[in-house]
Amino acid sequence: MIHVAVLGYGTVGSGVVEVIETNKEAIDKRAAAKLNIKYILDLRDFPGDPYEDKVVHDFNIIINDPEVTVICETMGGLHPAYEFSKQALLAGKSVCTSNKELVASHGPELIEIARKNHCNYLFEASVGGGIPIIRPLNYSLTAEKIDSITGILNGTTNYILTKMDKEGADFEDVLKEAQEKGYAERNPEADVEGYDACRKIAILSSLMCGKNVSYEEIYTEGITKISAADFLYAKQMDKSIKLLAMSRDKEEGFFAMVAPFMISRSHPLYSVSGVFNAIYVHGNMLGDSMYYGRGAGKLPTASAVVSDVVDCARHPGKTIMCFWENDNVRVADSKKDQGKFFVRVNSAQKEAAMETFGSLAEINVGIVEEFGFMTQAMTEQEFHDKIEKIGGCINRIRIFSA
Ligand code: HSE
Repeated sequence: MIHVAVLGYGTVGSGVVEVIETNKEAIDKRAAAKLNIKYILDLRDFPGDPYEDKVVHDFNIIINDPEVTVICETMGGLHPAYEFSKQALLAGKSVCTSNKELVASHGPELIEIARKNHCNYLFEASVGGGIPIIRPLNYSLTAEKIDSITGILNGTTNYILTKMDKEGADFEDVLKEAQEKGYAERNPEADVEGYDACRKIAILSSLMCGKNVSYEEIYTEGITKISAADFLYAKQMDKSIKLLAMSRDKEEGFFAMVAPFMISRSHPLYSVSGVFNAIYVHGNMLGDSMYYGRGAGKLPTASAVVSDVVDCARHPGKTIMCFWENDNVRVADSKKDQGKFFVRVNSAQKEAAMETFGSLAEINVGIVEEFGFMTQAMTEQEFHDKIEKIGGCINRIRIFSA
């Protein structure tokens, strides 16, 4: 029997219990052992809950119980999740987590502690919710040199942008509606400013490189400046606007970025709508592959946590392969990254824009006060300098090229 403790009986934690209960037979078979939820750690009591007798308030009960060999950390946040995870791993108990913030901040350290103590720090649920992406990167794509990852890694922003695209609505209105329906948090900053996607692409980038890509070094821009007018132009170009999180291993350096991009209808990520997530991976032998599904939500996320528990159950006393060394990758200066840009300026700036940008493609959607255009490829720095020279712009959005 594998005795499991769940830290945090919130959305994902209660989902873990539900997944184990619902799919008991199949899970026990695949784990080659019976899984038993022995403890649930939470500050609260849950009178009437079928698992109320498992609820404890003191982490020491769990850490001091030698029967507990696997811990599901579904608390979220850095503290005390970091301290609890570290203590558990030092005691040789495996930890399975959905906590992207903690994985992005302390992943390599916790993986190393797990390795030294013959247990595991597993985090399939930390990126893309229920989508298997950590395991493919760790196991399935080991013959590849992965040179690029592009993801739609945040369901809230993808829901908002999809609605704006379909309904021609403005950001603030869609955000308000999403909050009323419970799709967006009351404090949506982490999602709409791109911080959540930034942590997730830092994790994927680290696995891609086998070394630590610090989320603090990733240029991150959210979706708050995207307007209904931007979508008019995007439509005219047969494109949509998506918040993309990407990393590229190029000859000039390792580039990573989170920002809204205009993406063509012909690209598979164009069709990823609503709360769905997808991760598009390019390997030098396989070429492109894409991983798609529900990137958030109670049961999808819990399913990924439980898949890690099953892996732990199948490998008692063994550390599962995961290359993420505690050695930092130098992320290249995003100003040196190259690409094309879509730009909106006031009509009065049209001549200056044409003179400064030289060859450009005008995009006309009938807004007389504006001049919209697409630039040639140039570095971020060149673009920045040219925009400054013409006195700024109404908005600019990068054009995605695979
Ligand atoms: N807030 C996240 C999202 C939840 O909207 O995708 C999953 O990390």
